[in-house]
Amino acid sequence: MATIRLGDKAPNFTAETSTGTINFYDYLGNSWGILFSHPADFTPVCTTELGTAAKFKDEFDKRNVKIIALSVDGKQSHNNWIKDINEVENTTVNFPIIADEDRKVSDLYDMIHPNADDTLTVRSVYIIAPDKTVKLILTYPASTGRNFHELLRVIDSLQLTAYHKVATPANWKNGEDVVVSPAITTEEAKSIFKKEVRELKPYLRYTADPTA
Ligand code: BEZ
Repeated sequence: MATIRLGDKAPNFTAETSTGTINFYDYLGNSWGILFSHPADFTPVCTTELGTAAKFKDEFDKRNVKIIALSVDGKQSHNNWIKDINEVENTTVNFPIIADEDRKVSDLYDMIHPNADDTLTVRSVYIIAPDKTVKLILTYPASTGRNFHELLRVIDSLQLTAYHKVATPANWKNGEDVVVSPAITTEEAKSIFKKEVRELKPYLRYTADPTA
């Protein structure tokens, strides 16, 4: 198992899921992707996470993002658990959950951290661009549920900075001012961006969200 780092090609795989056999690249097509693991079926935090992810479908669709979850439990277990998630979270799980009983995908993506737990996957998140490069990796422990608003915020930043010479400052949210990429001079920035470029320091220049 090779370590996966930002900028690497996300490894492809074929796996059994709650919705049938899936080839990861075929499933993603030209979309952005979020591959996220959770420790086990029928556990409280995971139930809230998958219910929340289902309720964010419209937000993921708006951003051209397809999501796919994973745990090391089997397909029958996933499908039984999905009924509980739908009931208690008042939603319909609308994405596949990989049934990684042989840990093929977990090992490929280094989702089992033996010093945390020998067998269960940690809460990993891989965000993958349409060209299949890995753009973001998060790792949370089993006891801490993830913040799906943060995942949308990161997707907004990744999509904005992929196409414009900007970066997003601390706590940035979609539509707020951005910083000019260090790769361009203030003079260049003034000619590229329609809105004012404010230079606080030669290396810290703000401008409005160029898409707003
Ligand atoms: C949970 O999803 O609630 C959970 C799973 C494993 C360990 C602790 C919490």
